[in-house]
Amino acid sequence: MKFSAERYQNMQYRRCGKSGLLLPAVSLGLWHNFGDVDDVKIYRKTLHTAFNNGITHFDLANNYGPPPGSAEINFGKLLHTDFKGHRDELIISTKAGYTMWPGPYGDWGSRKYLVSSLDQSLQRMKLDYVDIFYHHRPDPSTPLEETMSTLDLIVRRGKALYVGISNYPAAEAKKAISLLKKMGTPCLIHQPKYSMFERWVEDGLLDVLEKEGVGCIPFSPLAQGLLTNKYLKGIPRNSRAAKAHGFLQKDAITQERVQQIQKLDALAKQRGQTLAQMALAWLLKDKRVTSVLVGASSPAQLEDSLKCLRHIEFDKAELIAIEKILKEIV
Ligand SMILES: NC(=O)c1ccc[n+]([C@@H]2O[C@H](COP(=O)([O-])OP(=O)(O)OC[C@H]3O[C@@H](n4cnc5c(N)ncnc54)[C@H](OP(=O)(O)O)[C@@H]3O)[C@@H](O)[C@H]2O)c1
Repeated sequence: MKFSAERYQNMQYRRCGKSGLLLPAVSLGLWHNFGDVDDVKIYRKTLHTAFNNGITHFDLANNYGPPPGSAEINFGKLLHTDFKGHRDELIISTKAGYTMWPGPYGDWGSRKYLVSSLDQSLQRMKLDYVDIFYHHRPDPSTPLEETMSTLDLIVRRGKALYVGISNYPAAEAKKAISLLKKMGTPCLIHQPKYSMFERWVEDGLLDVLEKEGVGCIPFSPLAQGLLTNKYLKGIPRNSRAAKAHGFLQKDAITQERVQQIQKLDALAKQRGQTLAQMALAWLLKDKRVTSVLVGASSPAQLEDSLKCLRHIEFDKAELIAIEKILKEIV
């Protein structure tokens, strides 16, 4: 497979916290759209579009599909065919922390689960190592020391180059970062849910990450498609909200929400952007955000989202107008 020789020219690469690693400002996640229920012709092209535009980072997890595990298998197949010879240009991440197999060892944050899960992920993708391995969510029952020392062990065994945490609130993130630092395996990155519609990270977490030199990669930056022009006129048949296995619930698309989206869409148009582009630019204006982790059900969506990089500055009046619209629904 021949990729564009210009692929690195239009992407911006940002340093991940205080690490040596640069990530593309836009990364691609494989939570939806890459499972066995999806069309290989489409997701294959989406992956090509990503790499042709300088997206070097692909984010997976043990349970992505459906069925769980199929996104890793499908990605692995293309990695060893279409992307053959490009492994060293790619940052591949996976995670464990949600239910993956039955019984007491297929969930949460024990050493037993994390080590086995990563071995399974590596087998599915036919890889010797991943670039980033995450603990997917905090575990209220397993000692944090056990979970963090397992991340350290995984790096020392050469099965991941870096480690990260996801969905950890500020205080727990701080403790986890400190434990990892003491073990000599610094926490590279945190992956929280963050968008115009989901702003809990602004209440302490971003400050912790900045202070500790840890990167931040917001997931669902388009609120699963709400922050695009997708739902302006109802729920399209092929949308995530309409799919039985989609995580976006139809009842999230209220009349009030649609009116709010329409106002944001009008503002985006004034900036010469689509709403998706404005929503991504709004996150990237903050230097603490390393990369936005988007999903895409087609190459065209990804091409649209990537154009956010052409205009990530906001003037004061635009920011005030956005805040006013966002405050209409709390
Ligand atoms: N750590 C965690 O706990 C966690 C949780 C969730 C996600 N993630 C990661 O974050 C990644 C992204 O999450 P996400 O898929 O929810 O992100 P998202 O970017 O908020 O939503 C992606 C969806 O929005 C729609 N879309 C995307 N670009 C569009 C555009 N330009 N115009 C119109 N519609 C557009 C598509 O919906 P349609 O499918 O309807 O076309 C697409 O599937 C995941 O793949 C995963 O890697 C992590």
